[in-house]
Amino acid sequence: MQRLVIFGATGDLAERMLMPSLYFLEADRLLPPELKILGVARSPMDRGAYLQRVKALLDARTEGLDASVWDRFAERLDYHPADVTKAEGLADLAEMLGGASAIYYLALSPSLYGSVCAALDKAGLACGDCRIVVEKPIGHDLLSSRKINAEVAQVFEESRVFRVDHYLGKETVQNLVALRFANTFFEPLWNNLAIDHVQVTVAETDGVGDRWPYYDEFGALRDMVQNHMLQLLCLIAMEPPADAGADSVRDEKVKVLKSLRPFSRTSVQQLSVRGQYRGGVVAGKTVAAYEAEKGGPSETETFVALRADIDNWRWAGVPFYLRTGKRLPERKTQIVIQFKPLPHSIFGEVAQQDLTANRLVIDLQPKEDISLLLMNRKTGMSGTRLQALPLSLSLDAGGRRRIAYERLLLDVLAGNPALFVRRDEVELAWSWIDGVAHAWSDAGLPPKPYAAGSWGPAGAFALLERSGRQWLDE
Ligand code: NDP
Ligand code: BG6
Repeated sequence: MQRLVIFGATGDLAERMLMPSLYFLEADRLLPPELKILGVARSPMDRGAYLQRVKALLDARTEGLDASVWDRFAERLDYHPADVTKAEGLADLAEMLGGASAIYYLALSPSLYGSVCAALDKAGLACGDCRIVVEKPIGHDLLSSRKINAEVAQVFEESRVFRVDHYLGKETVQNLVALRFANTFFEPLWNNLAIDHVQVTVAETDGVGDRWPYYDEFGALRDMVQNHMLQLLCLIAMEPPADAGADSVRDEKVKVLKSLRPFSRTSVQQLSVRGQYRGGVVAGKTVAAYEAEKGGPSETETFVALRADIDNWRWAGVPFYLRTGKRLPERKTQIVIQFKPLPHSIFGEVAQQDLTANRLVIDLQPKEDISLLLMNRKTGMSGTRLQALPLSLSLDAGGRRRIAYERLLLDVLAGNPALFVRRDEVELAWSWIDGVAHAWSDAGLPPKPYAAGSWGPAGAFALLERSGRQWLDE
């Protein structure tokens, strides 16, 4: 019998993401029939109270539970109160599991990972085929991430550690790999001969709100760029892997991370922008400044834009512009591959003004679309005029969009590590991010204010304008 044990079962991640994902998998009959799910947190509660709590949250999430799906799902659920950082706290759990192998999902603060692993070991719960699932952020910098990874590795070898980056569970992110490697015509153009630059935008309209105790320590660089954005960059920039197997893909991502050019005190001032939102209007609503949400002054950035350079043969001279922020005008995760302009135009002066360089736009969320901007001749009899037309593959098939965690949970249950992050990837990403953070602090760069509902500080525009480029939404 397979057991999924969720540590931190009453927390935000478990209740907002994991439980709904498991319920939807149940509805689609995708969960292994024998699977039992055990929630664990310190809050005292019996099974009945836990079931009520889960039912209420699923009711709200699904706008009405399907009674038969709920009955099947509830059969699998149980709850056990325990402090999972202490082996004594886990003694009863060991009895409940009765020696069965388990998957432990640590939906807990990463500062607890080390003590939880040690407690699992001491309580005899880290058996040979048990797996552990850990969440981001693994550490706050390279040193702390190494420490956490080392503590986990003392108990679980790497093949049993599943590090979640939920962006890798998104259907559209997986499609990026298919787009690049299941088509012949992109690959010959996927390099510095044909591509001018790449833009990756992860824009959110939400503010930080009551997550500020976590966020104020991390900021946008560590919260978004270190993980989700660097993973997207790796998938865009990596060489074709030998196969789609976990290690083949991870080996290629690691090479990209190793090729990222570090920042210096001087270059960081030219090539990066930090911002923090003030009050403003987002989607017609007046919203408060970050510092008002926190209730005090802060030097934490809620916006980052930077130019990343990948120093290798394929990408030399092609800037990757990364931009992410809270309280921006729209929610949008988008990759733009901007091709170079024509080397020479055979069209007359008038038509020449119509020319726009080809561009591949990959919309990951909320719209799911891949579109290729192509030049066409405008129909008409009075001389040649051109127009840019998007050739669009709308990927929105309608129906419910799966939560990224659904894919990831199924893969953990099946023991498939392909969509999880290997230790060296996490540590290399931290090493580059530490470089950015140190350069910021050496250069004494505080975040620049931007109005909520705008696209960030003016410097974010200048970052591209200096080289005659612009963000796609301008
Ligand atoms: P919360 O603070 O909301 O939840 C923490 C959970 O851990 C609670 O259930 C708490 O319950 C339990 N807990 C704390 N200490 C112990 C302990 N010693 N023994 C047993 N249970 C304990 O955190 P989140 O759910 O927001 O985050 C969890 C992890 O997921 C973090 O690593 C976070 O960075 C990551 N994450 C979260 C996201 C989100 O959307 N929330 C997104 C991406 C990553 P009790 O107090 O009853 O013990
Ligand atoms: C999380 C960050 O990892 O990703 C959040 O901690 C952010 O700050 C979230 O809002 C964005 O994820 P998504 O799937 O909503 O784009």
